[in-house]
Amino acid sequence: MADRTVGLVGLGVMGANLARNIESRGHEVCVYNRTTETMRRFLREHAEGHRFRGMETLEELAAALPSPRAIILMVNAGPPVDAVIDALLPFLSPGDILVDGGNSNYQDTEARCARLSGKGIEYLGMGVSGGEEGALRGPSLMPGGSRQAYDHLEPVLRSIAAEADTGPCVAYVGPGGAGHFIKMVHNGIEYADMQLIAEAYDMLRRGYGLEPQRLAEVFSEWNSGELESYLIEITADILRTEDDQGREGLLLDYILDEAGQKGTGRWTTKASMDFAVPTPTITAAVDARALSSPKELRTHASNLLPYRDEIEFGSHETTSQVREALYASKICSYAQGFALIAKASEEMNWGIDLAETARIWKSGCIIRARFLDDVSAAYRIEPKTPNLALTDRFVGEIASRIDSWTEVVVAAMRAGIPVPAMAASLTYLNSLRTRRLPANLIQAQRDYFGAHTYKRIDREGDFHTQWY
Ligand code: 6PG
Repeated sequence: MADRTVGLVGLGVMGANLARNIESRGHEVCVYNRTTETMRRFLREHAEGHRFRGMETLEELAAALPSPRAIILMVNAGPPVDAVIDALLPFLSPGDILVDGGNSNYQDTEARCARLSGKGIEYLGMGVSGGEEGALRGPSLMPGGSRQAYDHLEPVLRSIAAEADTGPCVAYVGPGGAGHFIKMVHNGIEYADMQLIAEAYDMLRRGYGLEPQRLAEVFSEWNSGELESYLIEITADILRTEDDQGREGLLLDYILDEAGQKGTGRWTTKASMDFAVPTPTITAAVDARALSSPKELRTHASNLLPYRDEIEFGSHETTSQVREALYASKICSYAQGFALIAKASEEMNWGIDLAETARIWKSGCIIRARFLDDVSAAYRIEPKTPNLALTDRFVGEIASRIDSWTEVVVAAMRAGIPVPAMAASLTYLNSLRTRRLPANLIQAQRDYFGAHTYKRIDREGDFHTQWY
């Protein structure tokens, strides 16, 4: 592959690691950082024997790059992206390429694509997943926007992306904000995966009384089957890690139980409302983080209301039920995320390939998992399926787990262990498989108080009744 010279703006950890990754694949990288000292430090630490060139101004950066210029922005999402674009524009020429590799909101990316195409700039909004390590060794890349920009940069992107048995984890996602949209949904799914694992852990530890060592073994066992994934793997590691501040026992037990969030999960939930595609498991995961945060309020509530720390409601043998509940819940959460992508793609004319989406998540990213091969295969065979959970590939997997899954959720409810994501997935499935939902009553109520009309099951047309 012919080597390229690319520019990179923003030498935070992700930017620095991505720059090193690009250079390690044989390309020259011209690096710029707003604080020049950060750029100099980067050069001191990494430039010896490597093809990095430090730039002190954006003008210098633009002058150093061959035409068409290709510049990757690795700055914080939001106003900083516009600030860098505006500062760069005077030095760019039509045909030049800008790539936003941050976690930008897809609507911002849509707007930037439109604005910049008017100036002849080829813009790519690229989801980058895999954290610091992924950026350095091979992330999953989700580029969307200018096809021309993608085609030009494809050799570079393929060279730096994670390599899976199905090829490099990068593909052109679609025009406009398509790339950042699927990165956002990836993160929503990431939230759901993490919450589901946390609920399974809570059930096993508080419900079934498993000790940390056994818990670590259970998660390791799970990591060799249908649940095999990065998040299960790191959970097993976490459950083996002793406190690093000299206290006895697991480090995990000393970590404050308030979950943070930067916002991409919340965006997924908002998008699910905007596109009217339910994502209850993802939303439950977002809510669970928010609910965890007022620790004082929860402590107050736990003093007011009956609460048990130790529950023990089953034998250790039933861990397999939790495993089944976790896997079935996971399938439903992916079904929701992919349904959201499908609907957005249709409405926005993005033409997103769902099988490819699953394929590029196979390696490098946080939700990487063996299961994504099955998701990809399911969409290759049934590309127009309205729901992943109902494909031939998954419907049997779900059906065979419904009983265990229900038992786990019911046991959790009885014990007072919150399992919002598992319950949301189960309720999602129960709603899907219910032939006649009480939505008829909702329609009657709407018609009663607002003359909103309803349809009948036995004849065509819209009906209104004088109910009283
Ligand atoms: C990734 C991650 C990464 C980050 C998210 C979530 O794919 O590499 O999704 O983007 O972990 O920003 O962060 P929060 O949990 O703080 O929202």
